[in-house]
Amino acid sequence: MSMENIIEISGLNSFYDSRQVLFDVTFPIPVSRVTVIMGVSGCGKTTLFRHLTGLKRTGRGQISVDGRDLGSFSEKMLMEYRRRIGVLFQSGALFNSLSLTDNIAMPLHVHTDLAEETVRIMTLMKLNMVGLAEFGDYMPSQISGGMKKRAGLARALIMDPEMLFVDEPSSGLDPITAAGLDRLILSLRETRGMTIVVVTHELESAFKIADRIVVMDDGRVMAAGSPEQIRNSADPRVHQFLNREADPYKMHMEAYYERLLGDQWRSQ
Ligand SMILES: Nc1ncnc2c1ncn2[C@@H]1O[C@H](COP(=O)(O)OP(=O)(O)O)[C@@H](O)[C@H]1O
Ligand SMILES: [Mg+2]
Repeated sequence: MSMENIIEISGLNSFYDSRQVLFDVTFPIPVSRVTVIMGVSGCGKTTLFRHLTGLKRTGRGQISVDGRDLGSFSEKMLMEYRRRIGVLFQSGALFNSLSLTDNIAMPLHVHTDLAEETVRIMTLMKLNMVGLAEFGDYMPSQISGGMKKRAGLARALIMDPEMLFVDEPSSGLDPITAAGLDRLILSLRETRGMTIVVVTHELESAFKIADRIVVMDDGRVMAAGSPEQIRNSADPRVHQFLNREADPYKMHMEAYYERLLGDQWRSQ
């Protein structure tokens, strides 16, 4: 499968203060494909996600978008980039004091001066798309975790982005809700040719949606390739990663911490 790359990450090293958490991360993100970044909790997925979305800009190495270095973007170029990407954070990151409708409409208010009626219709369309048409007036505190993820996805999609970045879409969700999110992601690739990057520690979902898989381990890329290549990898570490259900206690600990504390638990 020949692919054009919209983003190239090359030799990315990342730090929190003096502590290095990403080491020489290098891989491309092909256009109109689903790239899944996998790895156990704490391996650096969210940090990489923050670099890709332009939120964390310090570090060594390069992320180039259409051949231009994201690290050297001016504020104006960064704003343009943010218009082209939709982002769903691990925590959902809805504003608690705003209704779902107002949360989802937020990017339109920031980036456009569309008429109120247009905003209302566009917001309703996206609510509909994620199955929340009846819930526009609800506050985030009144809905379930799965619904928050879907509302977050509706907000990520409101600008009809060219690229979608999603951090842990299905963590902490029941299997049926998680499968629904996976289907929604796949349909965005199919119907709109969207470039999608999904970060997850869940194997089943990864193999269901990925065109390309990047496996991270302790801040480094351990393996990258098609799902078949990853599944058939001769690397014993990849093998061990794919078979870690054999250690249900570890799996449950990961799920437990992701669910309970989201982004915060390792950041203290
Ligand atoms: N804000 C932060 N400040 C300091 N260290 C952090 C911060 N966020 C993450 N880390 C550390 O960076 C490493 C990678 O974390 P993260 O990118 O969140 O991994 P993942 O998303 O794969 O669980 C972990 O060791 C974590 O403790
Ligand atoms: Mg994370």
